[in-house]
Amino acid sequence: MATEARTSDAGGERVLVAGVDTSTQSCKVVVRDAGTGALVRTGSAKHPDGTEVHPDAWWDAFREAASAAGGLDDVAALAVGGQQHGLVALDADGNVVRDALLWNDTRSAPAARDLIRELGEARLAEGVPDAHDRVESATEAGAQAWADAIGSVPVASLTVTKLRWLRDAEPENAARVAAVALPHDWLTWRIAGYGPAGDESAPLGPDLDALVTDASDASGTGYYDATRDDGPDGRAAYRLDLLELALGRTDVVLPRVVAPSATAGVAHASVAGSAVEGGTLLGPGAGDNAGAALGLGMVAGDVAVSIGTSGVVSAVTDDRTADGSGLVNGFSDATGRYLLLAVTLNASRVLDAARAVLGVDHTGLSRLALQAPPGADGLVLVPYLEGERMPNRPDASGTLHGIRLGTSTPEHLARAYVEGMLCGLADGLDALRALGVRVERVQLIGGGAQSEAVRRIAPQVLGLPVTVPEPGEYVADGAARQAAWVLAAHEAGGSGADVAPPTWAASSGTVVEADPVPAIREQYAAVRDLV
Ligand code: XUL
Repeated sequence: MATEARTSDAGGERVLVAGVDTSTQSCKVVVRDAGTGALVRTGSAKHPDGTEVHPDAWWDAFREAASAAGGLDDVAALAVGGQQHGLVALDADGNVVRDALLWNDTRSAPAARDLIRELGEARLAEGVPDAHDRVESATEAGAQAWADAIGSVPVASLTVTKLRWLRDAEPENAARVAAVALPHDWLTWRIAGYGPAGDESAPLGPDLDALVTDASDASGTGYYDATRDDGPDGRAAYRLDLLELALGRTDVVLPRVVAPSATAGVAHASVAGSAVEGGTLLGPGAGDNAGAALGLGMVAGDVAVSIGTSGVVSAVTDDRTADGSGLVNGFSDATGRYLLLAVTLNASRVLDAARAVLGVDHTGLSRLALQAPPGADGLVLVPYLEGERMPNRPDASGTLHGIRLGTSTPEHLARAYVEGMLCGLADGLDALRALGVRVERVQLIGGGAQSEAVRRIAPQVLGLPVTVPEPGEYVADGAARQAAWVLAAHEAGGSGADVAPPTWAASSGTVVEADPVPAIREQYAAVRDLV
């Protein structure tokens, strides 16, 4: 078959790159022009519902989405962004040991509490100077010890807690674990041609050492210290002591951490690149939030508020934080910097719940919410419909306060759901500010940002204007931008480390302004902690 060179050839053929977002709800594939970033083709396919999923569903959805995007035979480079933290445990034959536990599965909340206490006890026993004077309990000491070690205090979302849960709840499965990967690592491995022994869609077989990841996703495991150097084998920054604390052993393969613009491998020609000389280069990929930050081109002063299955308030910084309160995760971004995240479990699905209660579609919900006054006359929803992560209340449920005859209307209810969801995110913005994050521009993204009510009420709740970029697949776009970066660094030769990410035209977006209404957050704060 005739193949095209990876780089622009003399005939002026455009060079294509692909970005994949293997998210909680679906797989999205975008194919873009590597030089300009222009969108060429897209495809998507759904993932099953639930908080534990067999990874084969992601592989099937990826292949369906790639085919819907016109196939990937002509793409010169590809990278995968994905939902963070999910536990993909593999046995020595490359089979998944059990269904993957996703970031929003809260069964490991007690394991998180145990891990915090145990590390705290160890820290106190070590006699860290003055530790007894400074902390009330092992739990407090442990929270700070974890934040110092990995940038975050473990909650049920983090992989490390899922490993502890596996050790205790399913010891037979735990004993079979030979490698631990994350969703984007696993999908990259499958695209490269690896997979379970005997599976014909995995011609390169179960080579666990071929697993790769990047710092943004590794930093969400709970056993990776992003302030350390990954070392020549890409594995030196893993905290094996913390892995051992969780799983009880360290004889498992952890994916090699690949630097932001470095090549992580080549796609198998049966999946992508059969028409490109040398095949499709693979990028290291990224956690979805770091992917979105790359897709948006976030710089210091930018804060993204993402309303998807998770609600995420994020900012890129030069230094990693160690927030012992646990409100803010100090992860890595996809460019060698850090990404601070405040994450709620309750975002777009709060709007879905409101639609279900009121029997309306998105437009109907928005129209109703905008017909009630700011503050909904005192009707307040504390939206912990799936428990909560920020603040850490895995067992909480939502509550509705201020129900009176006058507030028992569809309009008030719609407004209370929208305001409650936004108040949770406003608390996240405060948590970032408390760590010194400068907030100059707030970009509202994710499916929830398509609601007119959310866009118009957000400035009232957050207290500042919001910019709504054009609707887009920012995670997949970030992955595509990384793929173009990897391609450029590869062409530059050497380490390629001094090649900058490509400059692609960014959407300026629409700025939505409204007078702040502090009363909305005040009435929320008055009841938030009663749950
Ligand atoms: C981040 C997090 C979520 C998932 C959702 O810490 O848990 O944003 O990445 O995909």
